[in-house]
Amino acid sequence: MKEDFNPIFVAMDGMAGERIMELRNELAGHVGGFKLNDALDNDPSIIKSFSEFGLVFADPKLLDIEKTVRNRARVISARKPGFITVHASGGIPMMKAALEGVEGTDTKILAVTVLTNLNDEQCVGIYGDERDAIVTKFAGWASEAGVHGIVCSAHELEMLSEYDHLKDLIKVVPGIRPKWFQDASDDQKMVMTPAEAIKLGANYLVIGRPITDAKNPVKAADDTFEEIQTARLA
Ligand code: C5P
Repeated sequence: MKEDFNPIFVAMDGMAGERIMELRNELAGHVGGFKLNDALDNDPSIIKSFSEFGLVFADPKLLDIEKTVRNRARVISARKPGFITVHASGGIPMMKAALEGVEGTDTKILAVTVLTNLNDEQCVGIYGDERDAIVTKFAGWASEAGVHGIVCSAHELEMLSEYDHLKDLIKVVPGIRPKWFQDASDDQKMVMTPAEAIKLGANYLVIGRPITDAKNPVKAADDTFEEIQTARLA
């Protein structure tokens, strides 16, 4: 990946109408791309309107029977996003079905390992083991299924880098908090600065509120990118 490549995906959460388009126009050229989640439910064709402004990361987090995931991946990829997310917990055949759905397009599939808001106790309750074990297992499934990358916490990058078979997976991490960001009501559970996450091997950083809620979103994006570049050159 080129050293001046901008790895910031801005999470455009909970915005609609004019605000989302306004922010898209302002941030174009200052970030690498945009993550669309609830905006997709509001208007699936929004993907196309974002394409010329950066890489689009469609985040429907698909989890269903294979046929349904294949169909949904096909329909979403027809709008040409760079990435579509699925849940790794759906298993290897489901992830393969998602890949079949995007066949013939440039869209890549990212598998969400374990949602970053789940702690060890919750992971044991849901998946039968603690976070680290399940994240490692699901990343292994993602690699076996042949998907292009995974979504995990930046805190898991070092652990995953121990495994040779996971090296080629694109690593996308949420929970990024620049040094200057302060929010007492922040609901992110596993946070890290952009510089640290990049140093640990993240390929893309998903950053929402530190940029979208900033008084000056362009400055917030530029300051974040500068932090990343400083870390890259260190
Ligand atoms: O917190 P921020 O606004 O930066 O959120 C960016 C993305 O991080 C969200 O779109 C969501 O997918 C993810 N997220 C998360 N864990 C949370 C809250 C949000 O992984 N607790």
